[in-house]
Amino acid sequence: MSARSADPRPGSLQRRSAARTAVVWNALDEVLAALPGQASVVDIGGGTGGFAVRVAELGHRVVVVDPSPDALATLSRRADESGVADLVTGRQGDLDDLPELLDTGADTGADVVLCHGVLEILADPAAALAALAGVLRPGGTLSLLVSQRHAAVVARAMAGHFGQARSLLEGSDDETGDGPRRFTADEVTALLDAAAFDTRSMHAVRVFVDLVPSSLLDLEPGAAQALVELERAVSTRPEYLALATQLHTLATRR
Ligand SMILES: C[S@@+](CC[C@H](N)C(=O)[O-])C[C@H]1O[C@@H](n2cnc3c(N)ncnc32)[C@H](O)[C@@H]1O
Repeated sequence: MSARSADPRPGSLQRRSAARTAVVWNALDEVLAALPGQASVVDIGGGTGGFAVRVAELGHRVVVVDPSPDALATLSRRADESGVADLVTGRQGDLDDLPELLDTGADTGADVVLCHGVLEILADPAAALAALAGVLRPGGTLSLLVSQRHAAVVARAMAGHFGQARSLLEGSDDETGDGPRRFTADEVTALLDAAAFDTRSMHAVRVFVDLVPSSLLDLEPGAAQALVELERAVSTRPEYLALATQLHTLATRR
């Protein structure tokens, strides 16, 4: 059974989730398809395996590093249900533990490292990217997904939280400093460059999907698919990067 058919969530949640991740999957599919044979993939903060299990279903070997035992238990169950348990390994730990957690020469020297939705919750993003560079082989690909600052400014302002919007605009993450970090496209590129990565492409992710009412996707025939196509169409246009909830970057380790 595939991960998609095993997804226990109601149809409307699955539709919205598919629209949120379609752009990232497109880019990842291309990266993985271009590699000869089975790729070695490390998913940092891979959580319950939403990406890892699907990558394994394509025939690649994936190591998921995550500090949450609950997430790793769910990962293991999903990998079992999808028939890819032999390709997915969960290791409990975090970015600081990578040298001890990963096998020298096998997992380090990976072809592809995923870091999706993690950089924004870490204290030191620059150090985190340097650690990720240590996991990849030279020429390997980092798939980085982070929250984008300006969409959050607009969302806060539209909800009437003008002080929070102003704080985000000025570059502090929120008024309390407790929330997740958010990045601009320029900040991501500069951080990657400093950590010895060359940015190959950057995609605008979730430009519209978070703004569209669920009822529209559920009731309007064909709307969910049309939204996915629209998200794909704007994802490569630089003018939409500042409107995107997330930025997805493919970068090559120098
Ligand atoms: C927002 S979730 C993203 C999950 C997954 N990457 C995805 O895109 O669906 C963040 C994940 O990062 C993990 N995490 C938190 N701190 C971490 C750290 N220091 N190193 C690695 N992973 C961490 C959490 O346990 C959680 O699974």
